[in-house]
Amino acid sequence: MLSRLSPAHYLDQEIFARERTRLFRKLWLFAALRTALAEPDAFATRELGGLPVLLQNCDGEIRAFENLCPHRQMPLQKEAFGQARMACPYHGWVFDTEGKVKTIPHEQRLYAYSANERKDLCLKRYAVREVGNLVFVNLDADPLPFDEQFSPELQRTLADITSHFGVQAVHADLPARYNWKLNYENVLDYNHVPYIHPKTFQPLLREGISDARQGLPAAGGADGQALSVAARRDHLAAQSFWTRSPIRIEPWPWHDAVQRYGDGDFYYNFFLYPNVNFISLGGLTFLLQQFHPLAPDRTEVRFTLCAARETRRLPALPAILWGHLKSEVAVLHEDLAHLEALQSHLHDAAPRAQHGQYEDRLQSAAAAYLRLMEEGKP
Ligand code: FES
Ligand SMILES: [Fe+2]
Repeated sequence: MLSRLSPAHYLDQEIFARERTRLFRKLWLFAALRTALAEPDAFATRELGGLPVLLQNCDGEIRAFENLCPHRQMPLQKEAFGQARMACPYHGWVFDTEGKVKTIPHEQRLYAYSANERKDLCLKRYAVREVGNLVFVNLDADPLPFDEQFSPELQRTLADITSHFGVQAVHADLPARYNWKLNYENVLDYNHVPYIHPKTFQPLLREGISDARQGLPAAGGADGQALSVAARRDHLAAQSFWTRSPIRIEPWPWHDAVQRYGDGDFYYNFFLYPNVNFISLGGLTFLLQQFHPLAPDRTEVRFTLCAARETRRLPALPAILWGHLKSEVAVLHEDLAHLEALQSHLHDAAPRAQHGQYEDRLQSAAAAYLRLMEEGKP
């Protein structure tokens, strides 16, 4: 069956711009771990959907704002993570937890704003939703109901598994020269593992990767109406699900020092549409991979890795985490070399991909994508 996506979907600047407005500024996007924002005034900054976003712990609640001062557009924070109140470094304006300007140094002498002008001096605020330890942001003024994107069953499982995360996490952002969708399609395609990862990932698998999808929405649509099999398959919430496959886990002494998730040696894989692949090896380590689009042919692959919560102090934890991150990055580099070759050979007159039966996940992701792109709705 021919792919519903044409080479232009991987190459074209106009389509890329439409993805920003119709997907990335409409859908809920993973933004940060809750544990990274636990302290008072802790913050994280991220670019999402082409916009600078500031996540801030405001008296215990995580809030999201545009990271751009309403005075003269200076970012409030330049670091990826930190701990500071919301104050602009350029002329010292300070903002309250609602994002409204609280104090302006020398306000009367220098600015003399009218009451009307002053009430508009606030940071743009975005919707936030937490699921366990995952913080999602929506950039739309009228955000999509969260349940339309992720089924309640999937949310429950995500909340459960992510509540096992330890506090320490390591991060890496890797530049890649391909379209973000190639990476998302790659993680949906379990059949590439024996060919691209014969020495790294494949030997860990005991019985290949299971294709039994969990966390799919129930038979009714978000509005409670019954959906046909095809419509259910292509439904937005059906693009996010999880699977579990038996895996070989080499025992390490540190495994006894953490509270692992689940009941055995499984490879858990969560696909969170549009651009997150979340995996866990045996409920012991947790890795979020986010395929952040930069341009039609450029993606930033964002890694966040942590281990299960410690039950006793593990002084070697940073070394363990960096060691794991290094091997995960090595696996990604195997994909990256191939996907960059694919992207660099793609051209506007290239034929569409020929999907076989097992690639129905790619077909249904493409159907959901096109509906968002063409109709602007899930
Ligand atoms: S730009 Fe922020 S205070 Fe001036
Ligand atoms: Fe891979």
